[in-house]
Amino acid sequence: MEILGIDIGGTGIKGALVDTETGQLTTERYRLRTPQPSKPKKVVKTVAKIVKHFDWQGPVGCGFPSVVKGGVIRTAANISNKWLGVNGEEALEDATGCDVVVINDADAAAIAEMRFGAGRDQDGVVLLVTLGTGIGTAVFVNGNLLPNTELGHIEIKGKDAEKRAAEIVRKKKGLSWKKWGKRLKKYLRTMESLIWPDLIIIGGGVSKKHNKFFRYLKTEAPVVPAQMRNEAGIIGAALAAAERLEAD
Ligand code: BGC
Repeated sequence: MEILGIDIGGTGIKGALVDTETGQLTTERYRLRTPQPSKPKKVVKTVAKIVKHFDWQGPVGCGFPSVVKGGVIRTAANISNKWLGVNGEEALEDATGCDVVVINDADAAAIAEMRFGAGRDQDGVVLLVTLGTGIGTAVFVNGNLLPNTELGHIEIKGKDAEKRAAEIVRKKKGLSWKKWGKRLKKYLRTMESLIWPDLIIIGGGVSKKHNKFFRYLKTEAPVVPAQMRNEAGIIGAALAAAERLEAD
């Protein structure tokens, strides 16, 4: 099935058509900047532009950087808080005329990674950590997702973990790989003491530079980089939409 996958992030909104059987993009990626402030009306308009760019009328899967329950946006750590309580699926369906499924962005990326990437055929407890503007997490148990985990917000040294160890913090504060790597190690070790994963997969753009910081992580469970890289969010959103459509 072909589905338009869209990944809404703090800085960019990206979309591409996805073949949900193979997990491959069937078009180039199209990216627009996330409007600032990222209020619902403007973000919805931007998504509608992406849909129009592909001249698309079929189903759309959309990853959103928030807890999403029944289509409703429930948290807003890195997006305008005007989104709180808004039904993202309805808003996007009204603007595009397409069937839209909205899920958490880290869950979306993890779904793709588990199906086609580093998590393929992995049983047990898998923790996926997406490093970007925030820290997104996804937890799988024997291939099944526990949706909407927000473990990037656990408190470490009295601070929201993502404010210490997200990729954007490394960049903004000019932290060395070692310094940032040690913060990440502390984060992952804390996660291990809480949920005892069998495998940890690190995603987000920075995962392709894993040679620079993996040596500082020293966790009990093996840590591997995501294989799908930046496209995971788009692909996973499309996979989630396909699954929902098949179930309905
Ligand atoms: C949000 C999560 C999101 C993550 C990555 C966090 O700040 O709370 O819902 O998955 O950022 O975008």
